[in-house]
Amino acid sequence: MPSSSKLHAYIHGKIQPLQDAYLHVSDLSVQRGYGVFDFFKVQDGKPVFLDDYLQRFYESARLMDMAVPLSEKKLKEVIAQLIQLNQLPLSGVKMILTGGYSPNGYDLAAPNLIMMQQGFSLPNRATVEEGIKIITHEYVREIPVAKTINYTVGIRLQKEIKAQGADDVLYHQQGTVTEFPRCNFFIVKQDNTVVTPAKDVLLGITRKRTLELASQQYPVVEGPVTLEDIYQAKEAFLTSTTKRILPIVQVNGRAIGDGKSGTVTLDLLDRLIAQEEQQVSRTA
Ligand SMILES: Cc1ncc(COP(=O)(O)O)c(C=O)c1O
Repeated sequence: MPSSSKLHAYIHGKIQPLQDAYLHVSDLSVQRGYGVFDFFKVQDGKPVFLDDYLQRFYESARLMDMAVPLSEKKLKEVIAQLIQLNQLPLSGVKMILTGGYSPNGYDLAAPNLIMMQQGFSLPNRATVEEGIKIITHEYVREIPVAKTINYTVGIRLQKEIKAQGADDVLYHQQGTVTEFPRCNFFIVKQDNTVVTPAKDVLLGITRKRTLELASQQYPVVEGPVTLEDIYQAKEAFLTSTTKRILPIVQVNGRAIGDGKSGTVTLDLLDRLIAQEEQQVSRTA
């Protein structure tokens, strides 16, 4: 894998070495936290489910009243060039649209588009089989369907998660759960119905794939999930681009089901991996 000093990024309308990719301090992302982004996986040099991510990126920008300076076609060309230059075996491409350089740090400006690629590793089989422990926290993101750059609550809670011996935090509103800072949430009920919250959540691409796969084999519901539903569930898991499907075995110190990774969860994960591999092998 090349060292990060050899990586390239797109900024200010051109591809440059990552080490030279700077944004001025007057940008509204720095001054006021105004910006959106998206992140997709690249396996063996091929983007996985790219069209879904691009669609969500343009939609997040639209919801935040920001214009993406490149057409989808041009964006895809830049992505292909970056992947070609960076030569990373497993990576993610992050597309960030920031508020732009505002003379007084508040007035609207022309957005800046940044694209960067970084390596990452997926959870290994031991982590998947062990499952993770989570805590809950009352919070709802400001504009949940938009993938904005505001992750301050999640970042601030990292110390609390660690102090409680947990791995992540699930947001809820008066006992009705929504999502994690960076993942969607599912339960499997005792009758194998797969349920995921639909309100006040980011419409995750892995969530969408998981719903499609689950509906081939199990009853599926997009609807409210309460903390009590979780405690009564047979299984629970989270989904995201970087984690795929990860079993949750404990919530607020209470074991879920038999306290082990569930069979429905692991079945869905195996089928998701197969689907991703199929898509990568089909892409020219
Ligand atoms: C708030 C939030 N929910 C859910 C997700 C999972 O979405 P995806 O499966 O598209 O990665 C993310 C991804 O970063 C997120 O930021």
